[in-house]
Amino acid sequence: MYRPPQRIKYKPDAGRSPSASEARAALLFSPISYGNMHLEQRTWVPAMVPWRASEDGSVTDDILDWYERMARGKPGALVVEATGIRDIPSGPLLRVGDDRYIPGLKDLADVVHKASEGQTKLFIQIIDFLAIRRRVERGTFINRFLDITEQHRQRLGGVGPGVDDVREKLMALTDDELRAVLTQREYESLSMGFRERVTDVHLSHIRELPNVLPDLFAMAAGRAQKAGLDGIELHYAHAYTMASFLSARNSRTDGYGGSQMDRLRLPLEVFRRVRGVVGDDYVLGCRYLGDECIDAGSGVEDAKFFGVEFARAGMDFLSVSRGGKFEDAAQPKTGSAAYPYTGPSGYECMPSYISDEQGPFGRNFNTVAAIREAVRAAGFETPIVVAGGIHGFEQAEAALGSGVADIIGAARQSLADPDWFLKLRLGRGNEVRVCEYTNSCEGLDQKHKQVTCRLWDRGGLDEPGVKLSKDGRRRLVAPSWKRQ
Ligand SMILES: Cc1cc2nc3c(=O)[nH]c(=O)nc-3n(C[C@H](O)[C@H](O)[C@H](O)COP(=O)(O)O)c2cc1C
Ligand code: SF4
Repeated sequence: MYRPPQRIKYKPDAGRSPSASEARAALLFSPISYGNMHLEQRTWVPAMVPWRASEDGSVTDDILDWYERMARGKPGALVVEATGIRDIPSGPLLRVGDDRYIPGLKDLADVVHKASEGQTKLFIQIIDFLAIRRRVERGTFINRFLDITEQHRQRLGGVGPGVDDVREKLMALTDDELRAVLTQREYESLSMGFRERVTDVHLSHIRELPNVLPDLFAMAAGRAQKAGLDGIELHYAHAYTMASFLSARNSRTDGYGGSQMDRLRLPLEVFRRVRGVVGDDYVLGCRYLGDECIDAGSGVEDAKFFGVEFARAGMDFLSVSRGGKFEDAAQPKTGSAAYPYTGPSGYECMPSYISDEQGPFGRNFNTVAAIREAVRAAGFETPIVVAGGIHGFEQAEAALGSGVADIIGAARQSLADPDWFLKLRLGRGNEVRVCEYTNSCEGLDQKHKQVTCRLWDRGGLDEPGVKLSKDGRRRLVAPSWKRQ
């Protein structure tokens, strides 16, 4: 996990909490309506993968418990974790790539609507991602995965005729010598594990992405709508396929890469196809990056342009994240796959309490404010969601009041205390369990372990009815709020 070299430690301070009457007059708890989206309040729990789906991607009792617990805090919107649009094995990540997922998602929608007494809108984040492989031993890479080419022969010089002769010689090289013989991409696959990119157009399934993705997204969205979800968040952020199309690093020459307009083409085509299936009166927006935070990646000027075009196309909301890319991820251990939140851009996505002069709280504010200003200047009122280190009422209220955003997203704070918005609203902010931004939850996510918060386990683990994680040491959901 990356930490800025300054290593300045910050202690979250939730600041002053409102009284109940002050909360009633607060922007944070005022409703918002735009397009098809009507929220009771401007509080939003962004997508978080809890690693609780079944191996075939279905909703489980643990998933229902997780979202039921979140919904008891009655946020304006709750976004279901990144859910795969394809029907392909992807471990315990939710999927919506087939009609057989509809009944489970229907249970999920029912549970959330009931627990929130109808006050929370349940959206689902739908995602496509490309293949990534674990990093393998050098010998395994050279002998099993490396395609021997003429270039290897030339760079090695004087090698026997068979491919095994080439492999044998490669095996005998030092790391530096090997690096000089392999292409940059081959060396990256050796040191980081192989990872597909949207620019790998020599692979037919990558070349064809613009032809297949609009329908895959549209069918997935149609299923979620059928299941009773209240809206769709297209996942155009972080390290995944659609964000890679938007990226300034996308150099495809088939009309889907290069200029800003061409990089935007597939995301807009996906949006229009989804809109065609879910209809004009259903909530449809996206999550995308205000800044990729990597060398030669898209920055805020790109994000302003994309935001205006998304608004023009008719999105009902724009949720803005930052960073979270593979390009600067830390080298995984042999046997593990790269994780996009381990490098500097990953830090920007989920900043921890060890930070730089800017600090971890509200790191995305300036970028989101600039995007919102551009969207407004173009004449659109599309609501903008901000997230990143938000954990206090005054901080949230100031962001809304100063025009940074229209809706406050809080992921880790809502994980630490799913009731926190409700506590603030009821004038009981002093009872909020404040997130410490230690990122223990993110560490669990990285290891594909059931995500929990370290603050949940300060006692009462042996109380009746408490469900524990597979290792038997952690609560699976936040403790109940014992209201007096
Ligand atoms: C355990 C965990 C899982 C996450 N999963 C997702 C996800 O599925 N989709 C997504 O867009 N962001 C995901 N995120 C990022 C959060 O939505 C959010 O953008 C980030 O944590 C910063 O907001 P915060 O400071 O309020 O936590 C995840 C974050 C955590 C901690
Ligand atoms: S483990 Fe809990 S306290 Fe630590 S960052 Fe995650 S939500 Fe916050």
